Amino acid sequence: TPRVFSGIQPSGGLTLGNYLGALKRFAQAQDSGIETIYCMVDLHAITVWQDPDALRRQTRELAAGFIASGVDPERSILFNQSQVPEHAQLAWIFNCVARLGWMNRMTQFKDKAGKNAEKVSLGLYAYPALMAADILLYHATQVPVGEDQKQHVELTRDIAAKFNHDYGVDFFPITEPVIEGAATRVMSLRDGTKKMSKSDPSDASRINMTDDADTIAKKIRKAKTDAEALPSEAKGLEERADARNLVNIYAALSDMTVDQVLADVGGKQFSEFKPMLADLAVAKLSPISTEMSRLMRDPAEIDRLLGAGAKRARTIATPILEKTYDIVGMVRSA
Ligand code: TYM
Repeated sequence: TPRVFSGIQPSGGLTLGNYLGALKRFAQAQDSGIETIYCMVDLHAITVWQDPDALRRQTRELAAGFIASGVDPERSILFNQSQVPEHAQLAWIFNCVARLGWMNRMTQFKDKAGKNAEKVSLGLYAYPALMAADILLYHATQVPVGEDQKQHVELTRDIAAKFNHDYGVDFFPITEPVIEGAATRVMSLRDGTKKMSKSDPSDASRINMTDDADTIAKKIRKAKTDAEALPSEAKGLEERADARNLVNIYAALSDMTVDQVLADVGGKQFSEFKPMLADLAVAKLSPISTEMSRLMRDPAEIDRLLGAGAKRARTIATPILEKTYDIVGMVRSA
């Protein structure tokens, strides 16, 4: 049976990249009727330093972001990772399955560690094994993510296959990354060759889910573009990273394909297209940020929802972890 799992780190504010690459698609998967499990991965967040009070606030704000984006805590299972200890327990087993050579190839680790690899946490290095545990703890078959997480989902497949092979079982499924739509890699508004990211020092490079209408419009107006008119088909955007990014964002926000968008706006100048994009972005995002602020007024209710979600998650996770321990040869006392 198909089952969807995905997660987001509560390591800062949400960006338009998180919304289009993840949250919007999480709500769509839920609405398609598949079983959906979504996690605020607080254990992942602390692989780099997080101020404790900020982490608590960001976790609640992320929960509000999920709900405001259409993830229903009744129809989906929504919880924070540390309330389901089985994630950390299965991650240890996977630390013993994954090979150093595999971890050494993780491009996100290399990017984040940079020249400072001696100073980063051991957790940052082991992080992809924890991510594999998140997914496989639920025997999830599909993982909707943005393009930047593809390598980690492929590692998850390698870990599942090696575990099954080493223990001679057919226990963990080989999970599919689901990387679909026009916005699997939303780029910086200041540089169309760089990913839009919450950690970019320039706030003008990204749209935050909490930005107000004026800020969104201003950031889009100032977004980097070239001086040419828009082409009438997707092919015409191939060498135009900044232009392509804005059209991709428009397509994803309006649930159109890039070719459909260009059929409408091909031939227009950016001076005309940018206000259209700004209006669309404000129309789609401001109801979400309004709902997030409303939800944030009752943090106790958010905590209650996350606790209830964690209980439901554990009903799936506990038997899978127990079975894993059994396969591995851990003595269990009745
Ligand atoms: P994180 O928290 O960095 O990002 C959350 C989700 O948002 C997507 N995303 C983007 N998509 C398109 N364009 C962008 N500019 C952009 N920026 C971020 C990410 O691809 C991701 O889908 N390791 C994961 C969290 C995680 C996870 C998991 C995901 C932990 N366990 C299990 C799936 C399954 C991460 O750091 O995502």
